Amino acid sequence: MIDPHIERRAAMAAHLADRGVLTDPAWRQVVEKVPRHVFLPDTVWGLDVDAGDGKLAPVPRSHTNWSRWAYDDVSVITQVDDGTPVLPDGRGERATSSASQPSLVVAMLQALDVTVGMDVLEIGTATGYNCALLCEHLGPEHVTSIEIDQSLARQARANLAAAGYGPQLVVGDGTQGAPGRAPFDRVLATVAARDIPGAWISQTRPGGVIVTPWATGFATTNLLRLIVEEGDVAHGRVVGDAPFMWLRDQRVPAGDWRDFIDEQAAGSVEYRTTINPMPVCDADPSGGLALTVGALVPHLNTVRYHAADDSGEATIYLFDRRGSWALVEYVPGDEDGFEAHRFGPRDLCAEIDRAHRLWEAAGAPERSCLGVTVTTTGARRLWVDSPSNPVLKASGGARTGGARLHGVREVDRRAPSSASD
Ligand SMILES: C[S@@+](CC[C@H](N)C(=O)[O-])C[C@H]1O[C@@H](n2cnc3c(N)ncnc32)[C@H](O)[C@@H]1O
Repeated sequence: MIDPHIERRAAMAAHLADRGVLTDPAWRQVVEKVPRHVFLPDTVWGLDVDAGDGKLAPVPRSHTNWSRWAYDDVSVITQVDDGTPVLPDGRGERATSSASQPSLVVAMLQALDVTVGMDVLEIGTATGYNCALLCEHLGPEHVTSIEIDQSLARQARANLAAAGYGPQLVVGDGTQGAPGRAPFDRVLATVAARDIPGAWISQTRPGGVIVTPWATGFATTNLLRLIVEEGDVAHGRVVGDAPFMWLRDQRVPAGDWRDFIDEQAAGSVEYRTTINPMPVCDADPSGGLALTVGALVPHLNTVRYHAADDSGEATIYLFDRRGSWALVEYVPGDEDGFEAHRFGPRDLCAEIDRAHRLWEAAGAPERSCLGVTVTTTGARRLWVDSPSNPVLKASGGARTGGARLHGVREVDRRAPSSASD
């Protein structure tokens, strides 16, 4: 009898090829060969659609969704809340590991531009599926993979063995790389970094490639492809979107915006500003402005409430989840300035204004024209078209000009993306 999973793998590969995602015939063969269902635990997790409260409910192997998800182009959540669901009813709040979405997996593997004989380091073993694809393509002796969570790492080892692969698996913090196995030709992170760890650069051979989800914390998580040069430096560009969960030690503090903004806070300052944050809030999440603001204004989150009438007025909250926030009462066309209120060491309004100006001074580049240079010491520089053309410094100042709004409706929220890999 034909194993039905073989047909389902072939169908998944065909679907990805038809969509124009899986373009490399060698990777197609690999996807057709590696059984994804072998890498899924008996219990996976899905959004609790019945409760409709955004929590994550267990989905056992016996459920039709379990087997459907194994070969659909979806990410499958395989762990919540670091292995201990936090809700008393056994449901979870935060996805902490997953089998990534197959289309994203192949896009990243293809971006890695790997050829047989190369040594690859993967960060974030999780189920081991991606690692198995690398093993199938390169041979397990060329593959090292790091997972920070002990129980996940143990399960990944068993999954890989069941599928017939024995790569080098490391249990530890992937931000340190795997010095004992370096240098590598390629580093592939399957977990999002805000700050690119220096070890990834120093452990990659000059000319080598690092592919990683790069989450600035604002708007879309970018898929970054860096080329490493002599001198502990790497340059690269954003080659797509890659919504991933964060590296454990770079995670964003959990909580609603209300957990981070206290309008009654002693020491908060009320003032007027001519800075109009609306263009930044309106920026295309995958565009050049959002990337520039995200890169230059660390940890930025925005939430906006539009007036329930058609005045166009809005209350805009900016906050960093680390003690600084600002709110601006936006009134369309008000040239005299807006009422504003801020708290904390950072002036987030001024920061987004500066980033907006820098982006405009650089010619308002699309995201595809922007690049980034990172060093092993953690320095980071944004550039346009080439590393020699950094996003220039703009002079200070502000634009347009407010009234306080209550009884309004929330229209959007720009919070760090996560857990959709
Ligand atoms: C989205 S999953 C990776 C998907 C996986 N590669 C696959 O084949 O499906 C991200 C994983 O990264 C792990 N992780 C988070 N921070 C890490 C770190 N600092 N070092 C190593 N692994 C980490 C998480 O525990 C999680 O299992």
